[in-house]
Amino acid sequence: MSILNTRKIRKSKLKNESRPLQMLTCYDYQTACLLNETDLDLILVGDSLGNVILGYENTVQVTLNDMITFASAVKRGAKDKFVIADLPFGTYATMESAVENSIELFQKSNVEALKLEGATELHTSIIKRLTETGIPVMGHIGLTPQSVHQLGGYYTHGKKEEDIDRLILSAKNLQVAGAFAIVLECVDKETSAKITELLDIPTIGIGSGKEVDGQVLVINDLLKLGPTMPPSFCKPIANLYDEKKKLIESYLTNNHE
Ligand code: KIV
Repeated sequence: MSILNTRKIRKSKLKNESRPLQMLTCYDYQTACLLNETDLDLILVGDSLGNVILGYENTVQVTLNDMITFASAVKRGAKDKFVIADLPFGTYATMESAVENSIELFQKSNVEALKLEGATELHTSIIKRLTETGIPVMGHIGLTPQSVHQLGGYYTHGKKEEDIDRLILSAKNLQVAGAFAIVLECVDKETSAKITELLDIPTIGIGSGKEVDGQVLVINDLLKLGPTMPPSFCKPIANLYDEKKKLIESYLTNNHE
């Protein structure tokens, strides 16, 4: 049972209550066991697993079954943590499919909450319905990778006035719909600060500056587990790709002696 719940997460918004919320992604049982022994607040089983685990170019190919497999593995390892799983692309295209797929992912993975990208009228209606059903939902605005083909790439959002107004309205609508927190991905830092000040629920930023209530990073970027350089907003604390490669090479050499 998670030691955090949505009530406590909402409260972390009260600046004097606690330090900023810290969230990392996780995709496997053993890393989840490790994170379970740390002070990390929130674990996200992001559909970024499509990129860093499955080697896809984007998150569009990730399926509901992928999410069930990885999220349930993480939850088995992170028993005491508040774990959030992403609803993957296409699984919330209509109210009916959203309810059916969310219940399946929530029940089969045993996570504490789900996250979905966007803030259209359909999205806010879905969040309201899921929340009423007993499924806590985290919102996600700014750069929403599932819409990469529509957005035309990965870039910072909330720089132009109309974009700023749209993001503020989106954040407010998500809050009214019942989202317990909102991820701001690659949102201009001043716009993020403004949204954070205007909301009662916590904002969790990634590449969106420091004036947010929490931060999230992809664990593979933080530890540099992959062969490519992480995005510029993430300063890796290790280079485990090179470390592990050296260890394997040394093992192979010594084994030949
Ligand atoms: O899929 C993911 O890892 C995410 C984070 C980048 C917020 O949505």
